[in-house]
Amino acid sequence: MLIPVILSGGAGTRLWPVSRQGYPKPFMRLGDGHSLLGLTLRRALAVADAGEVLTVTGAEYHFLSRDEYARDPAAAKVNQRFLLEPAGRNTAPAIVLAALDIAVRHGEAAQLLVLPADHLIADIDGFAADVAAASALAADGYLVTFGIRPTHPETGFGYIHAGAPIEGRGGRAIEAFVEKPDRATAEGYLASGHYFWNAGMFCFSAGALLAAAAESCPNVLGAARACFEGSESMPEPLRFDRELFLAQPDISIDYAVMEKAGKRAVVPARFDWSDIGSWKAVSELGEADARGNRVRGQAILVEAENCYVDAGERIVAAVGVQDLVIVDSGDAILVTDREQSQSVRAVVDQLKREK
Ligand code: GDD
Ligand code: MG
Repeated sequence: MLIPVILSGGAGTRLWPVSRQGYPKPFMRLGDGHSLLGLTLRRALAVADAGEVLTVTGAEYHFLSRDEYARDPAAAKVNQRFLLEPAGRNTAPAIVLAALDIAVRHGEAAQLLVLPADHLIADIDGFAADVAAASALAADGYLVTFGIRPTHPETGFGYIHAGAPIEGRGGRAIEAFVEKPDRATAEGYLASGHYFWNAGMFCFSAGALLAAAAESCPNVLGAARACFEGSESMPEPLRFDRELFLAQPDISIDYAVMEKAGKRAVVPARFDWSDIGSWKAVSELGEADARGNRVRGQAILVEAENCYVDAGERIVAAVGVQDLVIVDSGDAILVTDREQSQSVRAVVDQLKREK
């Protein structure tokens, strides 16, 4: 039994002004009209063999999420369960709460497939095949990650040092898992050829995850149990007491469990994968014109090259510029160098300070 657990939280501040607190990244529509959350649900439905999809998200996104799911006719056939957070406490609490919920309702052998709501994967068949391999490993008690061949020394990802193949299982043992290394370390990993990026997706049985959490982060598990025990009746959606929820440590699953766990495996992904973490990533989606420009909405480009323009309601004109991202969201305009787009979060920090 495999239950997709969609994690949808965090405002994605590097995608300001489109992604915001009230309308975060998973709801952003791409050029083809689909949102990242809608595409994640579609992926989840392809592997949801128990007819259930569990979503962990902020209470304020409950209706927005349900509306998004209602756009997919296939979603009506599954049980859509929500765990609603009063505030974000990062991925370790979100995943441990999901594991507790699934263990209580389906038993400890039931498996979670953790899917971040802000990734793009086009090859659903390849994805489903890799999930089947991961699920077989999870049935043996492994905590499984999906490995992506790195293309550059990204410091925003986790790195997996892959070890020996696990016989007959289509996965490899994990020698080491290092979350967000510094630049020099990431360069070394890239050069060595032995490392994968962690795709941020995980597959494990509820029991294996809870046992690993008991070893590596008993404080997270204890706080999650306290939170969970306040809600015995298992309503849908499941809401948590704010104070108990906020008492959980703010830590990601990568630091809390994956870096330290014993029985870990990686399935090298055969599917395409991109983490839509910045405007640079968005600006590389879809076909470019002959000069490398990509445009949404109405834009006039003269002697412009390698630019991404999202014009919104107004006309954007750009003359004689290169490598820019220009986004007009109606009430705000962003102009950034493509390569600097990671720093857009500094704009959001400044806006918060000025409020
Ligand atoms: N429900 C909920 N609550 N979801 C959350 C929360 C939370 O408090 N915090 C984060 N998420 C969701 C995000 O929306 C995203 O879909 C996913 O969990 C991962 O969180 P990120 O904040 O995007 O993590 P990251 O990108 O820094 O790092 C993770 O992903 C990388 C790949 O994209 C790690 O797993 C890295 O190791 C990995 O390489
Ligand atoms: Mg991310």
